[in-house]
Amino acid sequence: MKGLIFFLCVGLAVSNTRGEEGKKWALLVASANGWFNYGMQADVYHAYQVFREGGIPEEQIVVMAYDDIAQSEDNPFKGQVFQSYDLKDVYNGIKIDYRKESVNKNTFFAVLQGDKDAVKNLTGVNGKVIDSGPGDNVFIFISNHGMPGYVCWLDGNDMSAKELNETIASLHKNRKYKNLVLYVDTCFAGSMFENILADNIGVYAATASNATSYAYSTDCNSLAFADWRTCLGGLFSINWVYELQSDDRHASTMDMQFQEAKIACQGQSDPQQYGSLSISLMRESEFFGDSALDRKPGRGRRSRRSIGKASLSIPKHLLAYETLKNQLNHTSEHFQRSQQVKAKLDWVKKLMDTSDMFIKDIHTSIHGRFATDKRISRAETNFGSIKWSCYEPAVEAVRAHCPRMMRTEDVRYYAGAKFGVLVNLCNEVTTDTLLAAVKTAARINPLCG
Ligand SMILES: *[C@@H]1O[C@H](CO)[C@@H](O)[C@H](O)[C@H]1NC(C)=O
Ligand SMILES: *[C@@H]1O[C@H](CO)[C@@H](O)[C@H](O)[C@H]1NC(C)=O
Ligand SMILES: *[C@@H]1O[C@H](CO)[C@@H](O)[C@H](O)[C@H]1NC(C)=O
Ligand SMILES: *[C@@H]1O[C@H](CO)[C@@H](O)[C@H](O)[C@H]1NC(C)=O
Repeated sequence: MKGLIFFLCVGLAVSNTRGEEGKKWALLVASANGWFNYGMQADVYHAYQVFREGGIPEEQIVVMAYDDIAQSEDNPFKGQVFQSYDLKDVYNGIKIDYRKESVNKNTFFAVLQGDKDAVKNLTGVNGKVIDSGPGDNVFIFISNHGMPGYVCWLDGNDMSAKELNETIASLHKNRKYKNLVLYVDTCFAGSMFENILADNIGVYAATASNATSYAYSTDCNSLAFADWRTCLGGLFSINWVYELQSDDRHASTMDMQFQEAKIACQGQSDPQQYGSLSISLMRESEFFGDSALDRKPGRGRRSRRSIGKASLSIPKHLLAYETLKNQLNHTSEHFQRSQQVKAKLDWVKKLMDTSDMFIKDIHTSIHGRFATDKRISRAETNFGSIKWSCYEPAVEAVRAHCPRMMRTEDVRYYAGAKFGVLVNLCNEVTTDTLLAAVKTAARINPLCG
């Protein structure tokens, strides 16, 4: 009898979890390159590991990452990538589907929509896509830089909130998911969804920052990295990933995971949730698969200190500059290396000043010399709602007239973080006036033309 009951229970449990259930898909993206953006690729590699631990097949995980970190000459652990101090190689066994220049917005949209022909057109290869259907759960994770209303891509062809919203609407229309979850770890990530994302189309978004705050990178002070110190992950991302690894995924909800990450970000960024919040009450296992192999289900949660509290965190838009400063602080014994870092630091500072001048010149040409620095710096984190019919063309104009600024990794994210000024100007003057001001400022700026 006991044996029969046991048999029935196991049978039920299996049909419950395996029965008519749809597939789980993941699209993991880090587009930035360079040593100072190490943490964003590490976030994505680590996320890949937790999906694999969860038993999600490789065919259902698409990874887009520039892939210059593991083999970087700056990497003291050649061929390996670490997240946090536990020194577990998260690059081990990774399958990267799109790397280098293939990591761009159009390929991302094509992959997400399962459009194999478009992927072939864009990349020249028959790449892996999210081939999902109406019963499937799809998880998208983006660890990157952002500016108001945009997620950045390496080639400067950035993704606006409007475009992302349209793509999501088309996925919904074409019945490409049952539940769609987006985790976005970028500065101003909330501006991708706030007052935009519908709450009745089965989409839930969690962001590292609100619409007007920066996201942070953390663990920037790992001694193991010696003179090549860099940040090992996003403050929000490192915490959701580690939380997930210590959770019983069949017992914990998406919201529980989010709340833990939010606590870890306290006092720095301000994580937010958007869309269908009922999805946040679903079990982690619905998206991430089973608990990690070293965890038995039903054991509750392992206590874990949040990561990044005690270590150095840096707002992402300042990573280029602050990472060099951090290195300089620790290279005093090596004269030659410290001279190199010093020279690079001066160069980056000059780029930042030049981009500041560009924003200031736009503002001045509209509001005259009384435009104060204070007004500009306030607009950085305190801008009004985005008037897309003006702001989108304004950003396009900056890209057209100032391509160097928008494509130079060492300065573009810093410059983009000031685009709250453009958002505000859109609410103050006509689009034509603003576009003319952008053109005028570009004419005299060494980073433009
Ligand atoms: C791919 O490119 C060909 C030739 O340029 C074009 O005819 C076709 O419509 C493209 N397909 C997609 C899906 O973009
Ligand atoms: C976003 O998409 C929804 C449909 O999912 C649409 O109703 C809404 O108007 C869109 N918002 C913007 C700002 O385009
Ligand atoms: C956004 O986050 C920042 C930083 O945590 C905070 O100071 C600000 O008040 C938040 N904005 C809103 C509208 O809650
Ligand atoms: C560099 O050192 C100075 C002085 O010790 C300290 O105030 C600063 O926070 C350090 N900066 C970084 C990025 O570690």
